[in-house]
Formats: sequence, structure tokens, C-alpha cells
Amino acid sequence: MARIIGTGSYLPRSIVTNKEMEKYVDTTDEWIVTRTGIKERHMSQSDENTGDLAYEAAARALKNAGIGAKELSYILVATTTPQSLVPNTSCYVQARLGAVNASCLDLNAACTGFIYGLEVAEALLNLPDMGFILVIGAEVLTKITDFEDRSTCVLFGDGAGAAVLTKGDGIKGIITGSDGTKAACLNTGTFPVSNVLTGEKPFEHLVHMDGKEVYKFAVNILPEAMKAAVARGNGNIHELDHIIPHQANIRIIEAASKRLDIPMEKFFINIEKTGNTSAASIAIALDEMNQNHALRNGDRIALVGFGGGLTYGAVYLEWNM
Ligand code: ACO
Repeated sequence: MARIIGTGSYLPRSIVTNKEMEKYVDTTDEWIVTRTGIKERHMSQSDENTGDLAYEAAARALKNAGIGAKELSYILVATTTPQSLVPNTSCYVQARLGAVNASCLDLNAACTGFIYGLEVAEALLNLPDMGFILVIGAEVLTKITDFEDRSTCVLFGDGAGAAVLTKGDGIKGIITGSDGTKAACLNTGTFPVSNVLTGEKPFEHLVHMDGKEVYKFAVNILPEAMKAAVARGNGNIHELDHIIPHQANIRIIEAASKRLDIPMEKFFINIEKTGNTSAASIAIALDEMNQNHALRNGDRIALVGFGGGLTYGAVYLEWNM
């Protein structure tokens, strides 16, 4: 039993339009908008690392929830682009918030990270002495983007979103899963043996993606995961008030709308302004709806994501803030 009592988000100051992308690679605004729905994305500067974005989103979520940082029992940061390998990004956030009573954990499930984070938070809230848990999705994907690869670099953006959870009635059903056999569809390099021994190249950190394979996976898994989470919570997909899908590609969302026979108006979309912000995407979208007063208590909402792994997951909840 868990409910969301506050949300926050933060997007880096610098905006890169499709027109500006034309300077880096052989592409056009028309191609990007038609194939993806993206018009612009935010790019972090040198003072905006993962921990900075996560901190800004977290501070706003705490304010929205009306609780202090010392009341946090746990900080979970979902990210594919941690500030460093050690310490985890959650510890950076803890230090800046002054959340001295919080345990700190990062988790990586690529674009499904925020959904996995909510699942872990709900489970943790069953332990004794758990008060409030902060779940953050934060990414600086532009730091691992290959700006010579036009098939990926136009897609990604940076940002962070956060939610504060506590015990209570809200989340009705969650499902997560993965298909590790499809790992090669979306990956970075793996760590080589020490180059002192082999003379191998250092870690190849740029992301590679087989867009077509991920697309095929996504159009199938998005509706299936959503149906499974709603069924787990004894709901009906046709009675949902809002669906907040991972913002990867407008065409994937349109295909899901058709397959589920649910009108596009029920799907929240902000991809045109954010691009694909991976683990941050659903959290940013949820906060945008919350700040715009688009969510009313009792609204039935599905959050649904998919991404590298390949992973997937969905949450069915009743808004109760
Ligand atoms: N501008 C212009 N042309 C381009 C660009 C570009 N930016 N990128 C590719 N093209 C070209 C290709 O080279 C190809 O040209 P060719 O026919 O001469 O070979 C043509 O456009 C068509 O390319 P496709 O790859 O077939 O384009 P498609 O319609 O499949 O769209 C896309 C590509 C947008 C990547 C799509 O496959 C997609 O959205 N896939 C899913 C990605 C996704 O959802 N990822 C989510 C997970 S992200 C995560 O976990 C971090």
C-alpha cells in the first residue's frame, strides 16, 4: 500500500531545437518531427550533472508534498547515467537535501527505471519505520549520446522527475519484467579487462540502439504491460482517466492507442519539448500534469514504460494526494 503525496521535476536550462541538430548530423526538423514527435530537448551544462538535476526535482517534490528532507527514510534514484559509479547519485542528492535519516540506493532499468523505483518503494514501505520515500528518475543522456549517429542523437534529452511516497491507498497494481536476450538492441560497451594487461581501448560509454527492434518490442509490450498492471489492480483499462507513457516516440504511443482502443486524448504527451529522457520521462510527465492541476483525487491513472534491457513495467494507481 503506497500513495504519491508530492511530485517535482527539473529540466536543464539549455534547449536544443531540431534546427540546431541539423548542425551536428545530416537530418531535418521534418524527419525528426514526423518519425518521433520530438521538436526540442534539454541539454545539461557543466554545472548540471545527474545529482544536480535529481536534487532540483527532489527539492520541488518535497515542497509539493509538504515534508522536510529529514523525514525521508529512503532515496531511490533511477538512472542509466549516474553522476559517478561511486558514490551513487542518491548520496549526492542526500547530501544536498540534508536528508540525514535516508538510506540511499540507485537502480538502473533504463527507461523503465521510474516504474521499477515505484515498485521497490512500495515494497520498502512494508518494512517497519519507513516514513517517506523519494523516488527520482534522473538522466544526462546527452553525455552518453553519439552526436555522429543521427539515428540516436536526435532522440535523447536530459532531465529529472521525482515523487514522494508514503503508506496509504493509491497504487493498486504494478508489474515489471524484462527480456535480457534482447540486451544488444540498446546498450553501451562493457568494461574491458585492465588495459595495463591488454592494451584494450578504455570503456566505450556511448549508447547504441537498434531502433527498429526496440520499436517492435515497444508497440507490443506497452499495451500488454498496461493491461496487466490494471488487471492486477482489479481495474478496467477503458475506465482510465489518464495514461502516462514513457515519452520515446509519438508513433509508439499512437500504435498503443489503436491497439487498446483508447483515444489519444487520454495519453499524456510532452515528447515535443523533452525528447526521450529515459528514467526521468514518466516522472517529468507526472509532475507536469500535477503542477497543471490536471489530476484530481480519484482519477485512475496508468504509468507505463519500456527500455534498455529490454525492460518494461506499468503502474495502475488512483490519485490520492
Ligand atoms: N534524420 C534523417 N534520416 C534519418 C535519421 C535522422 N535523424 N535517422 C535515421 N535516418 C534514416 C535512416 O538512415 C534510413 O535511411 P535509409 O532508408 O536510406 O537507410 C531512414 O531514415 C529510415 O530509418 P529507420 O531506422 O527505418 O527509421 P524509423 O522509422 O524506424 O525510425 C526510430 C527510427 C525513430 C529510432 C524508431 O525506430 C524508434 O523510435 N525506435 C524506438 C526507439 C525507442 O523507443 N527507444 C526507447 C528506449 S530508449 C532507452 O531505453 C534509453
